[in-house]
Amino acid sequence: MLNLKIVKRVLVTGGTGLLGVAIQRSAPKDIQGFSIYFPERSLPVPLPFPILAADVSDRMEMQSVFEWAKPDVVIHTGAIGSVDFAEKNREQTRKINVGGTEVVAELCQIFESRLIYISSNAVFDGRTPFYSETAPVNPINYYGQLKVDAENVVRESTIPWTIVRPILMYGWPYQGERDNPVVWWVRFLENGKPIKVVDNVFNKPLPAWSCADVIWAIIQQNRTGIYHAAGRDHISLYQFALLTAAVFGLDASLITPVPDSYFPEIAPRPKDTSFDTTKMETELGVKTVGVRDGLFKMKAERTAIL
Ligand SMILES: NC(=O)c1ccc[n+]([C@@H]2O[C@H](COP(=O)([O-])OP(=O)(O)OC[C@H]3O[C@@H](n4cnc5c(N)ncnc54)[C@H](OP(=O)(O)O)[C@@H]3O)[C@@H](O)[C@H]2O)c1
Repeated sequence: MLNLKIVKRVLVTGGTGLLGVAIQRSAPKDIQGFSIYFPERSLPVPLPFPILAADVSDRMEMQSVFEWAKPDVVIHTGAIGSVDFAEKNREQTRKINVGGTEVVAELCQIFESRLIYISSNAVFDGRTPFYSETAPVNPINYYGQLKVDAENVVRESTIPWTIVRPILMYGWPYQGERDNPVVWWVRFLENGKPIKVVDNVFNKPLPAWSCADVIWAIIQQNRTGIYHAAGRDHISLYQFALLTAAVFGLDASLITPVPDSYFPEIAPRPKDTSFDTTKMETELGVKTVGVRDGLFKMKAERTAIL
């Protein structure tokens, strides 16, 4: 186990992602942070941590990043997060999501850094909620399989590691980054456009900043092993959309419930991967956040979007 006192330098991969930005925004004052972003994007707005362009799956680029950051801890969030893109572009996604994790794990070993790997609820099949950290994995799409494979890279390494599995996250994304359901719904409803939302897929939605709290608690308490991160409320996506409309003062009559079979998606989706959050709450002492509270905070943050 790493001595807590020497955790000063933290490297975040996926520095422009939803979670990567949330981690930077809530970093403790005594942490010296560094991050990287995907070279093909632009950086229209400044970010809290100094940032370099590097592809996580490029060993040479990442070695330079480690030489620059000399991290005590690496928080590896950088990945292709689209389930459908992963299903259609298997080699490319494997190279980044598993190959990138191999590169990061190897460099952590060389630089004696501890690794916090961000996995996903997609490692589960969604048939038997509420999943604890010891539940057997059984992914039903390619993205989920890659998360299992990347977890295995981390587990088989000899460095101190922690795996965090967030469930569906929401919040304001960095300019040009991937949207999340709340952002789509707000955008459509504000423009008076009707939307159809699935009412037979359940979740415990998690504000990205709450997932960041889990990660900083893990670092500050020097925790290793697996941690699930989720919100407090167990709701369908349709109920989540209705709450979004209520909190943002938008017209909920524009929202129609549909079964998941309505959307001809490429990748199958698990029905309910909701987590048991006992470990997050009792070991880490991080309280779960209700959807209404998370959405009100998101609404209040709107004027301060990055
Ligand atoms: N969001 C969720 O609901 C959710 C739920 C469970 C687990 N997760 C996992 O949690 C992690 C963070 O999620 P997120 O929502 O913050 O994802 P995100 O917003 O899509 O951020 C991922 C970041 O990784 C970057 N990236 C992609 N390929 C890269 C590469 N080859 N080299 C360097 N950077 C690369 C992306 O850059 P570009 O956008 O410029 O390509 C993006 O900034 C991911 O590993 C995701 O799989 C997310």
